Amino acid sequence: MVFPEYRPRRMRRNETLRALIRETTVSASQLIYPLFIVPGKKVRRDVSSMPGVFQLSIDQLAGEAVELRELGINSVILFGIPDRKDGVGSGAHAKDGIVQRAIKELKNKAPGLVVITDVCLCEYTDHGHCGFLINNEVDNDTTLEILAKTALSHAQAGADIVAPSDMMDGRVAEIRAALDEHNYDMVPIMSYAVKYASSFYGPFREAAESTPQFGDRRGYQMDPANSREALREATLDVEEGADILMVKPALAYLDIIAKLRDEFDLPLAAYHVSGEYAMIKAAAANGWIDGERVMYEAMLSIRRAGADMIITYFAKDMARLLLK
Ligand code: PBG
Repeated sequence: MVFPEYRPRRMRRNETLRALIRETTVSASQLIYPLFIVPGKKVRRDVSSMPGVFQLSIDQLAGEAVELRELGINSVILFGIPDRKDGVGSGAHAKDGIVQRAIKELKNKAPGLVVITDVCLCEYTDHGHCGFLINNEVDNDTTLEILAKTALSHAQAGADIVAPSDMMDGRVAEIRAALDEHNYDMVPIMSYAVKYASSFYGPFREAAESTPQFGDRRGYQMDPANSREALREATLDVEEGADILMVKPALAYLDIIAKLRDEFDLPLAAYHVSGEYAMIKAAAANGWIDGERVMYEAMLSIRRAGADMIITYFAKDMARLLLK
């Protein structure tokens, strides 16, 4: 069927027709909201490069959970900022560590909320790298042990899902083994399987206070130029026992999301990262774009590329828009 018999505009004439043939949807239950937890009491501190995002102390979490539930958002991912950092990131697996206490508080006050934890050392090391250093290089295999300990401590505190974001080789297998050995065989691993060494993480490092003190993360995170390598990374994580795969960042890597969607049948997450959020917020604040519509378009595009779920600082704004 070709023009003039076929006219695609017929089905675009009004919103009800458009809604009828809409192929992709975004719902609040697919959104995961990141929370930055800091020590102290009654802390609700602005992150200047991420308008609308705050560092929160543990006492703020119950209120936060109520707000999320009212918006229909069922999942959060936690990042902790400890009061002390050291060379080996011991705060990451401390029994009474910041994230461990935050998990307990949330599971206590909002048992229905899915609590995902970011498993990484960069917020806990004084050098800001994601692992244990030997001769100023992150040593893979020593780091695996610390990561496994960290994931286990999250599970013991009650985390529903652990999400390693460090990009060490072999960490999914190591974490799976540690969890299983301690009878946490029902705790899933959401693997940051394809995480690029991206400059879009800038604002996050302000929020999480995790900027590397020397060098960068290109020795462990992926080169943005590579696409076939994404399949190899994801294949390894599937073989090691990942339950959910993730691609990060999202918008500049929609081709990677689509590729993973085609190649794997595991649930797929995309992380719409801090820089992606900050860019939209900044342009909207200048009146250069319609922030709400650009946000919606970004979320739709990530879903259309094939992501089942989206980690995004826009979760609340998006859920509010869906309720309108
Ligand atoms: C590492 C981690 C990072 C992000 C999530 N987990 C930062 C990094 O790798 O430097 C970035 C998220 C964002 O930019 O929103 N623990």
